[in-house]
Amino acid sequence: MNTINEVKKQEEYIEKIKELNTGKNLKYHILTMGCQLNENDSEKLCGMLENMGYLKTDNFQEADLNLFNTCCVRENAEDKLFGKLGELKRVKEEKGTIIAIGGCMMQEKHITDKIKESYPFVDILFGTHTLYRFPEDLYKALIEKKKQEDILDIDGEIYEGLPIKRDSNIKASVTIMNGCNNFCTYCIVPYVRGRERSREPKEIIKEVEELAKQGYKEITLLGQNVNSYLRVEKEKGKPFEAYEGVNSFATLLRAINKIEGIERIRFVSPHPKDFTDDVIEAIRDCDKVCKLIHLPLQSGNTKVLKEMNRRYTKEQYLNLVDKMKAQIPNLTLSTDIIVGFPGETEEEFEDTLDVVRKVKFEQVYMFIYSRRVGTPGDKMENQIPEDIKHNRFDRLKALVESQIEENNQKYVGTIQKVLVEGTSKNNENMLTGRTDSNKVVIFEGDKHLINQMIELEIVSEHMWYLKGSVYDGSKK
Ligand code: SAH
Ligand code: SF4
Ligand code: F3S
Repeated sequence: MNTINEVKKQEEYIEKIKELNTGKNLKYHILTMGCQLNENDSEKLCGMLENMGYLKTDNFQEADLNLFNTCCVRENAEDKLFGKLGELKRVKEEKGTIIAIGGCMMQEKHITDKIKESYPFVDILFGTHTLYRFPEDLYKALIEKKKQEDILDIDGEIYEGLPIKRDSNIKASVTIMNGCNNFCTYCIVPYVRGRERSREPKEIIKEVEELAKQGYKEITLLGQNVNSYLRVEKEKGKPFEAYEGVNSFATLLRAINKIEGIERIRFVSPHPKDFTDDVIEAIRDCDKVCKLIHLPLQSGNTKVLKEMNRRYTKEQYLNLVDKMKAQIPNLTLSTDIIVGFPGETEEEFEDTLDVVRKVKFEQVYMFIYSRRVGTPGDKMENQIPEDIKHNRFDRLKALVESQIEENNQKYVGTIQKVLVEGTSKNNENMLTGRTDSNKVVIFEGDKHLINQMIELEIVSEHMWYLKGSVYDGSKK
């Protein structure tokens, strides 16, 4: 069945469930783990469920449907799922809530086996390649009152036109590609998300145009390796339509930059090995593309990088940073780092600290290496003891925090363009927004400023946020 007919079929299941649910005031609860791609998938699941007549609740105990969208990139996500399933057992016994688990963890056989054995009360298991089929799985679970397991090992197609219920009405995520072909040796993602495949340029442009019409100001383009957008298609001679001249990541940025109403464009994650000059030039030329670039480092040591299969050296990474800094005015950088990869020596870890000192990242997402079943890293013999991993993590964290304090000082007294996102969580009388470099700024202002780009003068810094005041233009 082609994808259009398949989506139609799922829409019919949505309608059937809506009929079943009429007048019942049913509620659903969703717990999303993992990255922004998973969050975007959850927005699609929420879109389906709300079209079926379910209302969202934050309280899992009152939900008629409890849904999990899982991640397996590190071990702690597994502990979280099993903990929650334990809590849900009682709700299931008392109330009969339907339990459905989807996402990356469902692509791991040892996990689904464990769920079937230890948590037999789970109703639906579905994988990353069958998310679009959730309405059908749910309908069958409701009608047949039988467990559903809907997991495929082969790469799924890209299904367009499924409903979506977005978390924000200011910022939106748009997935531009699925899967990953890089096989970094620590990483489970290529095994659970399948091979790289890009969405058609036309579908992406249309989605962003629609978002602009709805009033969205900021778009984040998502993929495991966004700067290889359309690469596989070109290499394999798979046909695609170069709509609006889009035939690469750089041309996609340029095309989205032209869409009226959109004021900011972000993207995660690019891979340093694919950061070609045309992408650097597009970032430089496109006024809406934020100058905060996430450039995952993982390790600062060439030998560790080689064992990680990252395909760049310490020097190549630093040269890329220099080139980007020279070509893109006001560039800031954020990164991901793993400490304690198998075999990492003290000296090799020092190289990571060295790169962090040199680059002065705006933000660093730090991770302790976590063994993932089925990856080459898991089979490496020289695993690093937990206490050494934690010690390195703490030292990296201390360095990063000292740099954040120093970096924050640079903002004080400057004028920053901020997209106002809403009222502050901790103080209803204050508004909150973000700078181009993704720094949170809290300030006093009227609520009509929400969803506007305004100028703020930064008055003070507080580690994780800045304080600002509305700028009247007098100091320029
Ligand atoms: N495709 C993206 C992100 C992948 S997952 C990229 O290449 O940057 C997000 C981050 O999780 C990775 O960048 C890495 O730093 C971290 N990560 C992945 N696998 C891990 C593992 N086994 N242990 C610890 N951290 C891991
Ligand atoms: Fe994992 Fe590497 Fe792919 Fe990122 S690029 S998803 S770290 S294999
Ligand atoms: Fe996790 Fe899957 Fe994202 S493993 S990090 S949710 S792609």
